[in-house]
Formats: sequence, structure tokens, C-alpha cells
Amino acid sequence: MKIAVLPGDGIGPEVTAEAVAVLEAMALPGLQLVEGDVGGAAYKRHGHPLPEATLEMARGADAILFGAVGDPDCDTLERHLRPEQAILGLRKHLGLFANLRPARVFAGLEHLSPLRADIAGGLDMLIVRELTGDVYFGAKGRRVSEAGEHEGWDAMSYSDSEVRRIAHVGFRAAATGGHKLTSVDKANVLETSQLWRDVVIEVAAEYPDVDLEHMYVDNAAMQVVSHPDRFGVVLTGNLFGDILSDLASAAVGSIGLLPSASLGERETAYGTFGLYEPIHGSAPDIAGQGKANPLATILSAAMMLRHSFGLESEATRIENAVAAALADGFMGGDLGGSHGTAAIGEAVRARL
Ligand code: NAD
Ligand code: IPM
Ligand code: MN
Repeated sequence: MKIAVLPGDGIGPEVTAEAVAVLEAMALPGLQLVEGDVGGAAYKRHGHPLPEATLEMARGADAILFGAVGDPDCDTLERHLRPEQAILGLRKHLGLFANLRPARVFAGLEHLSPLRADIAGGLDMLIVRELTGDVYFGAKGRRVSEAGEHEGWDAMSYSDSEVRRIAHVGFRAAATGGHKLTSVDKANVLETSQLWRDVVIEVAAEYPDVDLEHMYVDNAAMQVVSHPDRFGVVLTGNLFGDILSDLASAAVGSIGLLPSASLGERETAYGTFGLYEPIHGSAPDIAGQGKANPLATILSAAMMLRHSFGLESEATRIENAVAAALADGFMGGDLGGSHGTAAIGEAVRARL
């Protein structure tokens, strides 16, 4: 069971170290960890944010534990050399089109949410975000209009096969969960979204037990914080899923709490090949200070055990330890507490 650990930039190495320590504390037989350079750190060392050796290491592993990439020093580089290209490249090269971002308020931890406790208590949703298409991966460029204006442009598109395969992921999740699927789009304005909606309606015929609803993304953003209990599984595109998941994390209490799994079609001897990462970034404003919340990354490691290694009870063990550490007050500044990264990680390990 080979895991490629890619810590990356900023708080990436800090939070990844705690997740690795949790995995080591579990003493799972046969688990092997290898570490690679990615992001701005890789650019500085090798001249590229996703060196060939890192991509090969990722391909050769059964799962990837990813920290975060992004470095203000690199924001003026040509786009293809920026740290963010590493995570986009991994997702694309490895065919990881299905991004699962669960957002839930643990029972008894409603007080972590900025929402009223009676509203926060109903927040338990799974955002199924398409990850290898949309405006992220379309053509883009600069041009000068006939009027002499400088324009930046990005093409947004989805093909029916791209929508169909992520729709199946959403419907399957809803079929085994709460039977409720909300497809989020902007079909009142965007043709990309109208195609999305048409294909989702087509796929729905195969899942008669799932209660499908369509919602415009602006309304969805509003409902996430006013009526989170309306949502079970949320199916959406790459850009809307990116934005809605940060919003959902704030409703849970902190972006430092939300994990993710990025999956494709490849199966290994142990489970589904995948990349696991917190939904947050490299947080340059707090990097190197031991302040980052490691729980999103620790919960990502739990998702890895579940999806890539079939270790359901071990995954639950980690999730319960995280909930217990939070219940005992082990929180950092992001949740109004004063504990540091290492103390929070240690508190989780002590509660495994
Ligand atoms: P961010 O998620 O890094 O930070 C947003 C805010 O949340 C900051 O105030 C930060 O301190 C806080 N925060 C984030 N994670 C936290 C944690 N674990 N504990 C406590 N506080 C935390 O988003 P940003 O500031 O917009 O982006 C910073 C860099 O990260 C950029 O270069 C961006 O491109 C990159 N980024 C990378 C990923 C990724 O690697 N998948 C994801 C998002 C952003
Ligand atoms: C995320 C990040 C990435 C995204 C960036 C860094 C490319 O925000 O993983 O949510 O937009 O997908
Ligand atoms: Mn994001």
C-alpha cells in the first residue's frame, strides 16, 4: 500500500506532517510512504512545479496525500510555471475527475459554526465537484479588440461525456446516502450549464430512487448558509464547486476542517486510486508559524483509507478521534482557540 506524500508549499508541509504522523500512529501493516517535491518548492528546486519524477511517483503509488501549493513569490511567473499548475496537472494527468468534498457539522460541535446552532445542526452535505473540465481547462488568452481594448478570455465548456460520468458519481452517492441530489448550475445564463442540466436529467432516469432538484448557483450559495439542511449530495462543475466548498467550510466553522478525495476510474489491488487533500490552500499569511489547523489533512488521510485502501473502520477511527479532539477544545486561531498545529495533531493521535 504505497502512498506518495506531496507536502508542497506554505502550510502544506506543516499539515501533511501531522496527517503522516496519524497514519504512522495507526501502525497499518504494509503501508509505505514516499515523499516528492511539488508546487513552488519544486519550482525553486527543479525549475518546474510538477517535475516528471513527482508525476512518476504519483503514478506509481496507490494513493496520494497532498498538502497545498501556492507561493506569492511565484505569482508573477508565466502561468505554466506557477505552483497551482502542479495540482491542476496531477488532477488532469491522473484522470481524477471526481472531487468529493464532505462538509458536515459534527454532533455537539454546532458552536464551531458562525451560523445559529439550530441551522448549523442541519449541515451535512457532500459536494461532488467535477474536477478536470469547465473554464479551468479551456483555452485562455489575451487579445486586443478592434477598439484597441486589452481583453483576457477563458473558454468555459463541458462535453456530455464529462457531465455524464460525474453525474453518475453524484447519483450513486445519493442512492446510497440520503437519496437527495441537488444539481447546481447557471442554466439561466450559460449554455455550458444548460447542457449540464440536460445530461443530468437524462442520467436521472437510471436512478428512480433519487430525488433530483436543480438549483442556480447564486441561490445555492444563499441556501448553504440559510437552509443547509436542504442539501444532501450537491453535484456541480469545477468552478462552482470550488467556490461552494469554501463557503460550506466557513459554515462548518473553518476551512481548516474540510477534507477532499479526488477519484477517477483506476482501481488498484486495494481500492480506488485517488488524491487526498484539504480543500484549503498554502495560507501564506500563517505559514511557518505552527498555527495551521491540520484536521482537514488528517480527515483527508481518513478518506484515503476508506476509498483507496478499503479500511472503513480505520477511517472512522480517525474521524472519531478528530471529533473528540475538537470536543475537548483542541483548536487553533481559525476556530477561536489557541492550540498550535502540533498540539492538535498530538491530541488526535492520543484519541485514536
Ligand atoms: P487559503 O486557503 O490558502 O487561505 C485562505 C484563508 O484561510 C487564509 O486566511 C488562511 O490563513 C486561512 N486558512 C487556510 N487553511 C487554514 C488552516 N489549515 N488553518 C488555519 N487557517 C487556514 O487561500 P488563499 O489565501 O486564497 O490562497 C493562498 C495560496 O494557496 C494561493 O497561492 C492559492 O492559489 C493556493 N491554493 C492552493 C490550493 C491547493 O493546493 N489545492 C487550494 C486553495 C488555494
Ligand atoms: C482547490 C484550489 C485549486 C482549485 C487551485 C489552487 C487551482 O482552490 O483545490 O480548491 O481551484 O481547484
Ligand atoms: Mn479552492
